Amino acid sequence: MPAAITDHAAYWDHYAAGMPARTPEEALKTAFCWTQYEGHGPGDELLGDPATALELGFGRGNAVAALASKGVDATGIDLSQVQVDNAWAMWGHLPGATYLQADVTEFLTATDRRWDAIYSIFGAAWFTDPEQLFPRVRARLAPGGRFVFSHAQAVPGSYGVQGMYAGGFTGPQTWVYRWAYEPETWADMLRTHGFRDVRAWHEPAPTAGYVGTLIAIAHR
Ligand SMILES: C[S@@+](CC[C@H](N)C(=O)[O-])C[C@H]1O[C@@H](n2cnc3c(N)ncnc32)[C@H](O)[C@@H]1O
Repeated sequence: MPAAITDHAAYWDHYAAGMPARTPEEALKTAFCWTQYEGHGPGDELLGDPATALELGFGRGNAVAALASKGVDATGIDLSQVQVDNAWAMWGHLPGATYLQADVTEFLTATDRRWDAIYSIFGAAWFTDPEQLFPRVRARLAPGGRFVFSHAQAVPGSYGVQGMYAGGFTGPQTWVYRWAYEPETWADMLRTHGFRDVRAWHEPAPTAGYVGTLIAIAHR
């Protein structure tokens, strides 16, 4: 029997290769969106007015670029070197945009920098154990700084760690974990980890009955 494969960076590189290519002009039009529906829901106003921002799991890097193009000193972390290379190729001309390859838990543990806003859009905050992530995020926020994240609304009754086979049921044994909770549970967990002024809610989909988006905001 072959050994189980849990090479997450390779999985996310594979995911990156499947993402559609866009011109920078197209990408910037809807770059900052917390929901899975392009142009739908709140935008970067949820971050307040940060001078510095850190994105956890930036994917294409468009949200970092959108903030940098407004004058924010914006850094993104992603596990996938493919995403990092693509982001630099597309957005490297923006002076305020920085893209780094790292696992978020390792990065937040090692850095001594602080940010006004740390955020994640269907990103690493969804794919990282909150018990590990939340203390590290709080420690790297400036006093009064804001943590904001979004992910797909949890399947009702299915909470906590969610495992999925990344290559389907007939592929190699590669899996990833996600964490999903109802808004009240996220809010309680954030408060337990010392965050204040916490708000978490379901942003409805543009079509009634479609999957909504969980959005949470918390402050140091
Ligand atoms: C579903 S994609 C979302 C990307 C982007 N935020 C978006 O909205 O299109 C999740 C991203 O998180 C990154 N990611 C997952 N786990 C990570 C980790 N532990 N550290 C850093 N990045 C991670 C993946 O490489 C991927 O680019």
